[in-house]
Amino acid sequence: MQITLRQLQVFLKVAQHLSYTAAAEKLFMSQPAVSKQVQQLEAQVGLALFERMGKRIYLSAAGERLQDYAQRILQQVAEAKTEMVALRGGFQGCLKVAVATTASAFAIEMLGQFRQSYPQVDFEFEVANRQSLLKSLETNLVDLVIMGLPPEPSPFSAEPFMQNPLVFIAPPNHRLLGKPLSLADLAKERFVAREEGSGTRQAMEKFFQAQGQTVKIGTLFNSNDAIKSAVISGLGLALVSIHTIRDELEHQRLALLQVEHAPIQRYWYLVHHKDKRLSAVAETFRAFVLEKTAV
Ligand code: PGA
Repeated sequence: MQITLRQLQVFLKVAQHLSYTAAAEKLFMSQPAVSKQVQQLEAQVGLALFERMGKRIYLSAAGERLQDYAQRILQQVAEAKTEMVALRGGFQGCLKVAVATTASAFAIEMLGQFRQSYPQVDFEFEVANRQSLLKSLETNLVDLVIMGLPPEPSPFSAEPFMQNPLVFIAPPNHRLLGKPLSLADLAKERFVAREEGSGTRQAMEKFFQAQGQTVKIGTLFNSNDAIKSAVISGLGLALVSIHTIRDELEHQRLALLQVEHAPIQRYWYLVHHKDKRLSAVAETFRAFVLEKTAV
C-alpha cells in the first residue's frame, strides 16, 4: 500500500469541508485534481472513504478512521519539519517575497497560512507587475517571486505550482453573453486593459496576434480592481485571471464570455535567481507553496 502525504492532505481537506469544490478552493487546486487524489487514495486502501447521498458527501466508516490517522501523521510531519529547521538554525530574519499584481489575489492568503505554521517568520511583501518583478530578480532584491513564466533563456529557476486561466469578462447584461464568439468578433469590441509591463496584458496581445487579430484597447489601468470596476461600468470588455474575479462571478456582477480557444492557460511559477542561495526560511516557504498546490 503506497499512501502519499499529499493524498492524506487532500483527503483531510475534503473530509473537513465535505465538499470537493471547497477543498479545491482551499488547496488552490482544480476540482478534478482533488477528486483524483482521493480516488488514488481509495484505490490504495481498497475502501471507499466517502459516501454520496443526493448532492452531499459523507465520510464512510473507513473514512472516519483514516481521518484520525491522517491528522496525526500530518501533525507529526509538521512537528518534525519545524524541529529540523530549528536544528539548522533557520528562521532568523525575514523573507522577501514579491508577487505579480494578479497573484496578490491569492498570495496574501498563502502567507497567512504559512504564518500559522511558522509564527516566527516575518515578511517583506511587494506587489508589482511582471516587468518590475523581473528587475527585482535581476538586482537580487527579493528571495522568491510568484509570477508568470519568465522569458527564456533566463538566469532564473522557475517552478510551476498552479494554473492561472485567463478569461474574457463582460458586465452581466452584455449583448455578447451566451453566444459562441470568435476572436474576430472580439476584435470589433473595445477593451480595457492593464498597463504595459503586465503579464496579463502581454498574454492578451499575444493571443490576439497569434490569430491574426488586433485588440482595440481604450483605457489602461494598473490594477485588477480598477479593471473589474471599469468592465462593470461598461467601459469595455477585459481579459483577467480567474483568480481575481471569484467574488464578482459568485455575486453575478461580472460574467464570462464564451470565446474560441479561451480560457488562455497560463501558470503561476515560483521563481528565484539561480545564483541565489535560499535561506532556510525561503526554502521552507518554497516547499510549502509547492506542496500545498498542484498544477
Ligand atoms: P500581471 O500578472 O498581469 O499582474 O503582471 C503576471 C502574469 O500573469 O504574468
